[in-house]
Amino acid sequence: MRIDILTLFPEMFEGFLNTSIIKRAIEKNLVEINIVNFRDYTDDPHGKVDDTPYGGGRGMVLRVQPIYDAVMDLKRDDTKVILLTPDGITYNQKEAYELKNNKHLIIICGHYEGFDDRIRNIVDLEISIGDYVLTGGEIPAMAITDSVTRLIPGVIMEESHINDSFNIETNLLDYPTYTKPREFKGMEVPEVLVNGNHKEIDDYRRKMQIEKTKERRPDLLDN
Ligand code: ADE
Repeated sequence: MRIDILTLFPEMFEGFLNTSIIKRAIEKNLVEINIVNFRDYTDDPHGKVDDTPYGGGRGMVLRVQPIYDAVMDLKRDDTKVILLTPDGITYNQKEAYELKNNKHLIIICGHYEGFDDRIRNIVDLEISIGDYVLTGGEIPAMAITDSVTRLIPGVIMEESHINDSFNIETNLLDYPTYTKPREFKGMEVPEVLVNGNHKEIDDYRRKMQIEKTKERRPDLLDN
């Protein structure tokens, strides 16, 4: 899978691309992630990518031309173009699974006070990562790239997905996990996890998943 991220702030992605699981996935060629500065596509002699809004008002608006040209340059027949915006559909694990099935994603990071609305005409999908407003689409782009990349076969152990919170088959939250020591400041690890009976451990974990989901996210059980 290839993911092209269009941004004005490539430096924000340095730590993200060079750390831990994402770094390893890139090294193993399981995913190719390109950070594209769409300023490189502007036709403005001074390199401008934004301008004042028609009709007046505060702030600067991202111009349509640099983003249009960048998308047209990078797009292939099988590309899905995504715009990150607080008024898009709310992202979730089901959407992550759907995005994983694409060969090529272009992710456009909005910034400043907004973007020329005509950009919406060249995108397939508009996504928000939640009902709050960030200063730009860079953090949402990392959240989406991370959640999709970890679902690509070979990136993490396949079994890890089975108990993921929001797993699309179980729709349950993950069960609680513990490691050594067995007792810490009076807090003990549940007995069932140390007795070596795998059937009992599986039953306990399943029960904890259901209880936790009932308590914290009853809406998931309704679905
Ligand atoms: N840009 C600013 N806020 C955002 C959000 N919540 N989701 C996606 N893109 C954004």
